[in-house]
Amino acid sequence: MTKEKKNLLDISDLSKDEIKNLVKLASFFAEVAKRPVPKVPVLQAKQVVTAFFEPSTRTRLSFEVAAKRLSASVVTFTAATSSITKGESVKDTAMTLKNLGSDLLIVRHASAGVPHQIAKWVDVPVVNAGDGRHQHPSQALLDCYTISENFYVTDCDFSGLEIGIVGDILNSRVARSCIEAFVRLGAKVTVVAAPTLLPAAEFLSVPEGSVSFTENLDEVLPRLDVLYLLRVQLERMEKNAFPGVREYVTRFGLDAGRAAVMKKSAVIMHPGPINRGVEIAADVADYPNVLIGEQVKNGIAMRMAIIYYILTSRYEL
Ligand code: CP
Repeated sequence: MTKEKKNLLDISDLSKDEIKNLVKLASFFAEVAKRPVPKVPVLQAKQVVTAFFEPSTRTRLSFEVAAKRLSASVVTFTAATSSITKGESVKDTAMTLKNLGSDLLIVRHASAGVPHQIAKWVDVPVVNAGDGRHQHPSQALLDCYTISENFYVTDCDFSGLEIGIVGDILNSRVARSCIEAFVRLGAKVTVVAAPTLLPAAEFLSVPEGSVSFTENLDEVLPRLDVLYLLRVQLERMEKNAFPGVREYVTRFGLDAGRAAVMKKSAVIMHPGPINRGVEIAADVADYPNVLIGEQVKNGIAMRMAIIYYILTSRYEL
């Protein structure tokens, strides 16, 4: 994380040790969730704002539940019901949220770089909760935690795992953050996508040659430990990036036939929200090796870890 003030803007803000420590801390906070009263009185004096300029279900609610479990007070800002609709600027909005006494701003915006800009304007830490096609670091961290838990990985050493990331890489901030995190932790990462759904290599922020690319999902499926499906982002897709949903399903959709050739120990992940019947067939989405529900639960523990670490600089209570 950046030193002068602990922002979490990009996954590259974190060293490998910081990722490991956050995963350890998340596993501690997951234990808190199992208590009869799933709260710890550690951030009673703190106020956290979720400032979402773009819709969200999981990320916003997960950060809010996490902050409340740490006993912080939570202020929710939603652009659609705010003075943004009267023309107030993002800068004035951010300054107002800070001046309301907030200790941490958690920001989502449809344009890449807005959380980074806000971090320059305000003197409190900022967490990027998803900016355009750019980054979604808390999603990548909760996915690292989920993979660690599922495969009983010690010390976040992913070197024995092959992870296939499938679909609309071009428009996916989740893909950018996850690819970077998984490569950093030593996983073999294979990206499965049509060329029209891939960004230029330099936009993936990983060393050259550290990721393999293929268009053929069927070829890689039998060897994957983790199949990570991405949402088809119709709201961000350029015209003609893909002939149509039917062709996408044929080439990259996970149906029962494809699921059957996967390793018995393999798991299926997706950041949500899912398009049932597109990235994943409706019945397959409910298979026991689909970890989507676990990802949501683990998101609370990881976001508790992120908020706690940013506001206390500590990895233990
Ligand atoms: N995974 C994710 O970012 O979901 P939301 O858009 O619902 O927050």
